[in-house]
Amino acid sequence: MSGLVVRNVKEVQGEVHISGAKNSILPLMCAALLSEKSLFTNTPLLRDTEILGNILQTFGVEYTHSDNEMCLEVSNLPTNIDITTELAAKIRYSTILMGALVGAGVNTFKLGLSGGCSSFGERPIDIHLDFFRNIGCKITEHTDHIEFDNKEIVESFDYTLRFPSVGATNNILISSAIMKKPCIVRNIAIEPEIIDLIKYLEKVGVLVEFISERDVRITSNRNNDRVSVEHRVISDRIEAISYIVLGAMHAKHELTVSNVELEYIKQPLAYLKSLGLDFDVKEKERMVVVKKAQNLDAKDLEVGVYPMIGTDYQPVIAMLLAYTAEKPVTIIDPIYPKRFRYLEEAMKVGLNAEVGTGESTIFSLDLKEINDHVGLYSHDLRAGFAMLLLAIFYPGMITVDNAVQVLRGYSLLEQKMKSIGIEIELV
Ligand code: EPU
Repeated sequence: MSGLVVRNVKEVQGEVHISGAKNSILPLMCAALLSEKSLFTNTPLLRDTEILGNILQTFGVEYTHSDNEMCLEVSNLPTNIDITTELAAKIRYSTILMGALVGAGVNTFKLGLSGGCSSFGERPIDIHLDFFRNIGCKITEHTDHIEFDNKEIVESFDYTLRFPSVGATNNILISSAIMKKPCIVRNIAIEPEIIDLIKYLEKVGVLVEFISERDVRITSNRNNDRVSVEHRVISDRIEAISYIVLGAMHAKHELTVSNVELEYIKQPLAYLKSLGLDFDVKEKERMVVVKKAQNLDAKDLEVGVYPMIGTDYQPVIAMLLAYTAEKPVTIIDPIYPKRFRYLEEAMKVGLNAEVGTGESTIFSLDLKEINDHVGLYSHDLRAGFAMLLLAIFYPGMITVDNAVQVLRGYSLLEQKMKSIGIEIELV
């Protein structure tokens, strides 16, 4: 499988149920090394979760995953672990295993360096490593893997992140399980998925208390560790906005997006409202009913760290802007300044845009007539969904290439699309 083709589009309508968040379940699966048994509910079925589950199995973790439940059971972890298999390099988020192995008290380990969404530029891990060195881990970096010796770890720390990195925050919080005394971390990321992790950590005896907006005190009480916990993963906010945008672009009249974490998508919803997009938010039912968009009033979009609108939304929202906005609009992305390559792909079907670094301007989308098959490349998973939004206009004529990226992050994509009238096929 390398591409994804939209075969047939009926009237787009109905309801699409959002799955658990990719960016929650991946760190949660790593954090599960801290307890004897973790049962996660509301879990997505993704290529990345399968790969991470398989990595955990290589050192004895029992991993089972059914429809929307996942169970991880950890008996005694080895004191030395080698995860330099090819699997580790397949997903970027195996990086969070560093924090999990430190937190679980593994003396030494080797970990293959990961790939993942790197097509939009460098994804350094210097903040992660600076923290680990700071708490006494001896780290040796090799070209394809990294080695940790954790025998001389400190009992407590007071650490300030130079930037509120999501991944580094995950690593710091999870590894703090090993600390014998209370610790302070300043300038952490406060994305909803981090809050979800904090709630899980509390269940396994690692208490994370906010002392100001981005500063926390961590107290680990894991002396009577190895507990069994249940945890409902929060729903995926990026998937929710992706389908809301799909509804706005393609619904016959309206599309219902359900199982939505409304409090966590306030900012993108407020932005979409400011454009004039018509939708109803049903708090009690946790749904958004979005109406097909008419001419929207373009507003520039600047993404940033939460609570700003996240970078992951921008390729998807960009397609809606291109399709309906009546004047040029600029998108600013300081988090991943090179995350605009999807615009060049969209130009193949009539997008007019000026692509830059850090910011790009979209003028219009004048959908071209296509007589020959066109391939639109998925530079990352969100870019892939953006390309799919275009492919829906051209059943049978466009292949969304490198579709493996899309499947990394969108659970049950074929089934969900089919349920709302869009038949896609992996080719
Ligand atoms: N950064 C550094 N050094 C570091 C770590 C990060 O310079 O050691 C920089 C990065 O280069 C980037 C910024 O900090 O400019 C943000 O990186 P961050 O560490 O916050 O991102 P991440 O943890 O690698 C997560 C999501 C991404 C999402 C980013 C930003 C997960 C599994 N991934 O990545 O999700 O884009 O936060 O919000 O949580 C996606 O879902 O499509 C996706 C790519």
